[in-house]
Amino acid sequence: MSDKERINFGSKLGVVAAAAGSAVGLGNIWRFPYELGQYGGAAFLIIYLACVVVLGMPIMLSEFVIGRMGQANSAGSFKKLAPNGKWWLVGVMGVFSSFLIMGFYVVVSGWTLEYIVQAVGNQFANKQTTDLAQVFSNFSTDTVRPLVWMSVFMFLTAAIVFAGIKNGIEKSTKLLMPMLLLIIIALGFRSVTLPGGIDGLRFLFQPDFSKISSAVVLSAMGQAFFSLSLGMGCMITYGSYINRKNHLSHTVVEVTLIDTLIAVLAAVAIFPAVFSLGINPAQGPELVFITLPNVFAHMPGGYIWAILFFVLLSVAALTSTISLLEVIVAYFVEEFNFKRTNVIIFASLGIMFLGVLSSLSLGVWSDVKILGMGFFELFDNFTSKILMPVGGLLIALFVGWKLDKQAILNELSGNGQFKTGYFKVYMFLIRYIAPIGISLIILNQLGISKLIGLE
Ligand code: TRP
Repeated sequence: MSDKERINFGSKLGVVAAAAGSAVGLGNIWRFPYELGQYGGAAFLIIYLACVVVLGMPIMLSEFVIGRMGQANSAGSFKKLAPNGKWWLVGVMGVFSSFLIMGFYVVVSGWTLEYIVQAVGNQFANKQTTDLAQVFSNFSTDTVRPLVWMSVFMFLTAAIVFAGIKNGIEKSTKLLMPMLLLIIIALGFRSVTLPGGIDGLRFLFQPDFSKISSAVVLSAMGQAFFSLSLGMGCMITYGSYINRKNHLSHTVVEVTLIDTLIAVLAAVAIFPAVFSLGINPAQGPELVFITLPNVFAHMPGGYIWAILFFVLLSVAALTSTISLLEVIVAYFVEEFNFKRTNVIIFASLGIMFLGVLSSLSLGVWSDVKILGMGFFELFDNFTSKILMPVGGLLIALFVGWKLDKQAILNELSGNGQFKTGYFKVYMFLIRYIAPIGISLIILNQLGISKLIGLE
């Protein structure tokens, strides 16, 4: 596709809507709370927020810069900007990450569809925590049912990507994201006012710094990358669709604020209920699926709220899977000239294959372990704790050390139209802080600090 034909996001709000649609998803409402619960609450939250500001925002801006300057998919943009190097491999790595992320993400997305059906069937009313936990575990360890839902979800994603970037994503996000926000706020009110809910707020906001370890820091960083859709070319691909009139740094601030707000509010909706109902905050992936149905069961109009919530959660997941699939599709279509339809079909089949592995690893294949993890856990950990941070590191090095500084400044300022007072700080973060910070966090977890006697 030549530069001229390249589709652009329609309006300014369209850009924010699409990027926020990618960022806001299961990462905010499902993954963030359970990671927070497993890694000790407020201390995790503080490190997470620090990672979002210091690493996440500069890397998102860098991805937008690469995409908009390169005007191509994740690998193609690197090729355009650095024709002689091997930088494009960063983009290829992103395509690979995209498959692996999708490989567990579509499974959890499928769960949200099952929960719509349960909500419609009024299955949460009058159930106790133990019953709800049983329902979830029966469902998620089942062999067939989760796979049916996963396939339905994959089909929806493929259909929207097939219809094209612009029509699909922008419209759905603009309307549905504010609705999701409203429901989470309503849930938050109910949750906080449950008896004993205050303990949940304490867990969430009163840090216990003795809980910080290298594993906590690595997980918080991984979650920041995951939630903001960074480190694998997703925002490079979207950046290439952003037109030149857009003020990129504003878009970054807006998307980050929306994403962080929804994650924190989701945690406010979940933890007071967790403590009030005596659920273990370190439950893991099932946390949200056990806790929230419980809150709905205790809410006036809970029946309607539950349906709306799970519908919107599915849509939020859908706008994220669309962005992940788009990374793969843009790459194969532009780099190999394959037909869009064919790429969508084959990529979807490949993803479903990984999805089968992930889903079964929670049930009949729970004994199959690689590096001590089942497929679900492996795909999740490998992408968020290794591939995405390493991708982010390379993106930071590329923009900080390889690209021409003046060219970046021109890109950010729209050739002088926009203010770029933040530029020096941005350059410092992307040249030094991001590469050093990410390396240290990964090395620390690998135990290097022990090897050289720092601990
Ligand atoms: N950020 C999304 C979420 O929070 C998931 C997602 C979409 C993603 N695109 C991504 C994660 C790219 C990592 C990389 O649910």
